[in-house]
Amino acid sequence: METHVFPLLSSFLSIIFLATSQASDLYIPHQIHLLRPQSGAHGRDVPGLSCLSWRLSVETHNLVGWKTVPQQCENYVGHYMLGKQYRDDSKAVVNEALLYAQSLKVAGDGKEIWVFDIDETTLSNLPYFAKHGFGTEPYNATTFNEWVMEGKGLALPETLKLYQKVLSLGIKIVFLTGRTESQRSVTATNLKKVGFHTWEKLILKGPSYTGKPAVAYKSNERKFFEKNGYRIIGNIGDQWSDILGTNTGNRTFKLPDPLYYVS
Ligand SMILES: *[C@@H]1O[C@H](CO)[C@@H](O)[C@H](O)[C@H]1NC(C)=O
Ligand SMILES: *[C@@H]1O[C@H](CO)[C@@H](O)[C@H](O)[C@H]1NC(C)=O
Ligand SMILES: [Mg+2]
Repeated sequence: METHVFPLLSSFLSIIFLATSQASDLYIPHQIHLLRPQSGAHGRDVPGLSCLSWRLSVETHNLVGWKTVPQQCENYVGHYMLGKQYRDDSKAVVNEALLYAQSLKVAGDGKEIWVFDIDETTLSNLPYFAKHGFGTEPYNATTFNEWVMEGKGLALPETLKLYQKVLSLGIKIVFLTGRTESQRSVTATNLKKVGFHTWEKLILKGPSYTGKPAVAYKSNERKFFEKNGYRIIGNIGDQWSDILGTNTGNRTFKLPDPLYYVS
């Protein structure tokens, strides 16, 4: 299952860690050339701004409502996302989720659900962000939606593992995403292509939620499930807005994401 993301990551990594001449015949986003293994790995590109501390503030939700990754942290975030640490951090999150899932006494009445977010939780948009400055460029709906419509999101291997475990336990899968209804078909196809073959429900953002914060939209959709007798056993996302609000579920799990903030 790791093959979905590894070829891409390893080709990026070879560009970072091997002689650049070897990479000249591969297609790679030009920004990758800016990454240097010796620079920014510890977030010390610019005196006075520790990119590691910046990322910690983001992950702990002390820093909220931020629009872009600080320009000085492009290298740092690029290395983080393409390197081992992002995978290790994701693994640490999913390990806890797996332990929790295994500890459950599942009723098996078909009413137990686990909520999965999609972007940067189930599907990775890393190829897009590698081309667009690793979050240093302001969000551009046009180019991002073009990327989504290509249906080339990569499976996040750790989440895929959790998904398979949850399914095997007889818990139903619900995808709850900020992607819009117009992206339903491409999203479903993309999910299936990379190994997420089945689900109870795929909920996309309908027009009634346009302009509303994700936390309100997602809370409302989760509440609807619980009103209909479902029990949210687990909930995993890369944004705090995936796991805050109401009806958040018995346990929540926050995956790393230093690329963007969704309120
Ligand atoms: C988004 O990207 C397109 C294509 O590069 C550009 O023409 C447009 O001005 C950008 N929009 C914003 C809001 O930056
Ligand atoms: C989930 O939380 C509810 C409400 O606190 C509790 O009654 C239920 O036993 C919990 N379920 C699991 C599987 O932990
Ligand atoms: Mg997400």
